[in-house]
Amino acid sequence: MQKHLLGIKDMQSQDIEHILQTASEMKKILKQNVKKVPHLQNKSVVTLFYENSTRTRLSFENAAKFMSASVSSVSAAASSVQKGESLIDTGKTLCALMADIIIIRHPDSGSAHLLSKHVDAGVINAGDGINEHPTQALLDLLTLKERFGTIKGLNVSIYGDIRHSRVARSNCFALSKMGANVKVFAPYTLLPESVESLGCTVAKDMDDALIGANAVMGLRIQLERQKSGLFPSVNEYNRCYGLNSDNIKLMDKDAVIMHPGPINRGVEISSLAADGDNSLILEQVTNGVAVRMALLFLMTRGGK
Ligand code: CP
Repeated sequence: MQKHLLGIKDMQSQDIEHILQTASEMKKILKQNVKKVPHLQNKSVVTLFYENSTRTRLSFENAAKFMSASVSSVSAAASSVQKGESLIDTGKTLCALMADIIIIRHPDSGSAHLLSKHVDAGVINAGDGINEHPTQALLDLLTLKERFGTIKGLNVSIYGDIRHSRVARSNCFALSKMGANVKVFAPYTLLPESVESLGCTVAKDMDDALIGANAVMGLRIQLERQKSGLFPSVNEYNRCYGLNSDNIKLMDKDAVIMHPGPINRGVEISSLAADGDNSLILEQVTNGVAVRMALLFLMTRGGK
């Protein structure tokens, strides 16, 4: 395992497989009555978040606590960042406070890479701008592997705001490396240029994305990253680009519905889809803890 986890793009499939196997072992700990193991004793883990988060931050913090690490969290909004401290100075300060691992979320693409060049601690990218969200892709792989036994050969459709989504980028890289067939679908304005270079094809409409898919993954519209309106109205968006009570009938009965969250009900996904028997959305959240336990263990102890 490398010192930092910055993105999926440059990872080897065997390294991804090793993380998934370790995460499956970690999930057994989550099923125990006493969710406490000594794997990270005497290690210090810091979450450094410049953007809001519920799932990623809490699952990293729970993962570290379940493995007996000391855990601290820094919210940029309530830190000396507000007094003008730079990212690098903040990172060096955390290392001076004995951080072994810094988990960073930041609105700017490349910020995790930058931090990793300037600190002694291991750095985990918890989402940088529109670049990557590698731990989300890893937990999505684990969720698919648990359900289908393998990722190779699965048809996975990702729909929504692909252009501004670091989840879409990391998942396209991860799924294609592991042998899945990835299709994306979005309004033209919400697709990045050269989207096929991510390892996917583009569906011609929502029906095309749904028919024959083993898994359908929705993404919210990232209004915080859009400079101006890129679609006409929310109602129209839901009708043409959302998973709703009509088009859900096109999905195979065994196909699963996924979403990294937070979900926007009635926009990209209906409650029928989000809460139905085929929804794995909350299983994804639980698997996020197992994957992050695996990563913290592999990065600090080399799996020993
Ligand atoms: N999926 C995800 O990154 O959710 P949060 O923004 O709540 O961390």
